[in-house]
Amino acid sequence: MVTRYADVVSLLTDPRCVVPPAEEAPEGGLAWLRASVSRFSPPDRHAARRAVGVAALDTLDPRELRVIAERLTGRILDRAASADNGGDRVDVTGDLARRVPLVVLAERLGLADPAAAVAEVTAVAAAYHPGAGPAAVRRADRAVAALLAMSPPAPAEVTANRLGLLVQAADATAGLIVAAVRHGLDAPDGLETDALLAEVLRLDPPVRVTRRVAADPLTLDGQPVRVGERLLLRFDAANRDPAVFPEPDRFRAGRANAALTFGAGPRGCPGQRHALALAAGVVGVLRRRCRPGGPTPDVPPTPLEVILR
Ligand code: HEM
Repeated sequence: MVTRYADVVSLLTDPRCVVPPAEEAPEGGLAWLRASVSRFSPPDRHAARRAVGVAALDTLDPRELRVIAERLTGRILDRAASADNGGDRVDVTGDLARRVPLVVLAERLGLADPAAAVAEVTAVAAAYHPGAGPAAVRRADRAVAALLAMSPPAPAEVTANRLGLLVQAADATAGLIVAAVRHGLDAPDGLETDALLAEVLRLDPPVRVTRRVAADPLTLDGQPVRVGERLLLRFDAANRDPAVFPEPDRFRAGRANAALTFGAGPRGCPGQRHALALAAGVVGVLRRRCRPGGPTPDVPPTPLEVILR
């Protein structure tokens, strides 16, 4: 387990540490998606596949994503306000955080039915990382088939890496929005939403860990790491390393150093600006229009309610 900021950066940028790769699989299901995306690709295939995702992201302007996310959030709040079920309460997790970023991205990436894509992407995300149970994998297999049917025509590897963007975006962006609402709905108006998000990413990171395996021997803090040894890189701990962040446990927006939550090096998140834009769109509107809906739960993904002002 690696917890120091400098050690996490050094391993993320060390070519001797690789992402545990996915096995090849026939086209169509979850195993195929995992075997085709850059995220789980071995070093010799990673760069070309990452370039496919980056090319798709380059067609999306983060400022535009933010505006569209704001509009969609506004419409969802308007609908809640006009509902006849005493509807001044909104479930941030289900109605907004898990929905808005994916609808916006799916629409911009040309999926035929962006609203229907949300449940399918969420099902794939639930089984994307190793360790998912058989029922979750079967549901994800069906979801990959549904997403392929909604995708514009393209070579299989291109489609896989475009779908990979949606899957990577899903839980992390939702987690950032929920955490920012928990930390910041009653924060002072003067605190910029971007600064709020930056400190939330550090203190309450929606991606807490990532994994590497040593492909060559190396040393870490004088300790030998053998070939095949697995390393758990802890963003949550590195983001509170007192050597980098004074008063690490205190929420203090506007810090000099950036959190490690988007990773670093050749596999660092290519969707960082997009994630921040989408989250800022949703959170900015919520800060203007809503107040906390009661005691806020500590542990995501517990539903989090807010009340319209
Ligand atoms: C708050 C939201 C997000 C966080 C915290 C986050 C974090 C990360 C991290 C830590 C990695 C690298 C993992 C590693 O090195 O092992 C990563 C990879 C990736 N992320 Fe994000 N991400 C977020 C949102 C997004 C969004 C919105 C997109 C696309 C629209 C995206 C696309 C990707 C892709 C494609 C990769 C794999 C890159 C590669 O294979 O080289 N992410 N993300």
